[in-house]
Amino acid sequence: MTDIFERIKRNPGPLGQFADYGEGYFIFPRLEGKIGPRMIFQGKEVIFWSANDYLGLCNHPEVLETDAKAAAEYGMFYPMGARAMSGETDQHLQLERELADFVQKESAYLLNFGYQGMVSIIDALVSRHDVIVYDSDSHACIVDGVRLHLGKSFTFKHNDMASLEKNLERAAKVAEENNGGILVITEGVFGMRGMQGKLKEICDLKSKFNFRFLVDDAHGFGTLGKTGAGAGEEQVCQNEIDIYFSTFAKSMAGFGAFVAGNKEIIRYLKFNLRSQIFAKSLTMPMVIGGLKRLELLRTKPEIKAKLWENVRKLQNGLQERGFNIGNTNTCVTPVMMQGSPVEATLLVKDLRENFGIFTSVVVYPVIPKGMILLRLIPTASHTDSEIDETLSAFEAIHDKLTSGHYKQQAEQFLKENNLRFKEI
Ligand SMILES: Cc1ncc(COP(=O)(O)O)c(C=O)c1O
Repeated sequence: MTDIFERIKRNPGPLGQFADYGEGYFIFPRLEGKIGPRMIFQGKEVIFWSANDYLGLCNHPEVLETDAKAAAEYGMFYPMGARAMSGETDQHLQLERELADFVQKESAYLLNFGYQGMVSIIDALVSRHDVIVYDSDSHACIVDGVRLHLGKSFTFKHNDMASLEKNLERAAKVAEENNGGILVITEGVFGMRGMQGKLKEICDLKSKFNFRFLVDDAHGFGTLGKTGAGAGEEQVCQNEIDIYFSTFAKSMAGFGAFVAGNKEIIRYLKFNLRSQIFAKSLTMPMVIGGLKRLELLRTKPEIKAKLWENVRKLQNGLQERGFNIGNTNTCVTPVMMQGSPVEATLLVKDLRENFGIFTSVVVYPVIPKGMILLRLIPTASHTDSEIDETLSAFEAIHDKLTSGHYKQQAEQFLKENNLRFKEI
């Protein structure tokens, strides 16, 4: 037998192993100041590329005023209960109607958090007779929802339609045997590398296979499509998406989430989502604030237009300078470079401390060995000069990387921090 705590001490987990030298800097970085394109990190101002505040609503004066007024009137906690017990208000229902209209669905239901909401949606939709087929790069909330499923599940290779078809054939056999159905799940936008899910192509497979389609459009909502209704609208297949999900944590600059679809199914979800039935309702400031944010999405298309102007300036600027930004076709802007995790560490430190640029960084095992991925999230609030400054800084650190500058520093860094990376 093992003592659980002893095992945990020996193996602190995939992120925990970096805690001693990374916490507060690379992991759980502590930023100060108003959320926006300039924040304070380690006492110095940085151009900040790490907030999913796509439309810059975090600091929109009308949003701040609405949130503050709602908090003053209701407190931060109202209503004091789960939706099913005592947490339903007219404002919740109004926001649901407006969200449903916005994403062109019959009905919507609010969720107090996106992650738990998605886990429960998957849990509630399928029985053990059903089969789930989902993209291998799916967000953790989808993966965890599938973990609760008592029946069969298959992954298809990321955005690979041949692999999806193969897995749909396998799924159809199992579903046939069990007298169950098939649920296909993917994302509207993959948040790490910025590729849209191939929603239209998946919808087209409905003519060949019998399945229902659930889409997590966390990054697409508000940023894609003519009206901002997301990746389904962009790809002209919103109608064929059976269940549409998005969080408020990105374009809506808030917290909470919603699920939308056909009236009966949303009603079924309302009565069966365990993470909502047994947890507190989305609080009033966020509901009233959500109505304001949605009004801005609807009535101020110039905000989305500005976001896309910034996205194009940043992405074109990077490509013109020879950077590999992969196949992004969304606002998410990954910059891929060759280098070891230790080089990545030094490069990011240099970028933050000497160039005043803050981006997120991802290394192996999240991405293949030998690759460094810096992820930039442009917003409508970034200015031209902030983009230009960032492009120049990227050129400079890339030159340093390719000339071996960080490699030379790495030996020293490894020694000082007593680390065990094999390659530098
Ligand atoms: C794709 C995706 N789905 C779901 C979530 C979870 O949403 P929430 O932050 O509202 O829990 C996130 C992160 O916010 C996300 O990026």
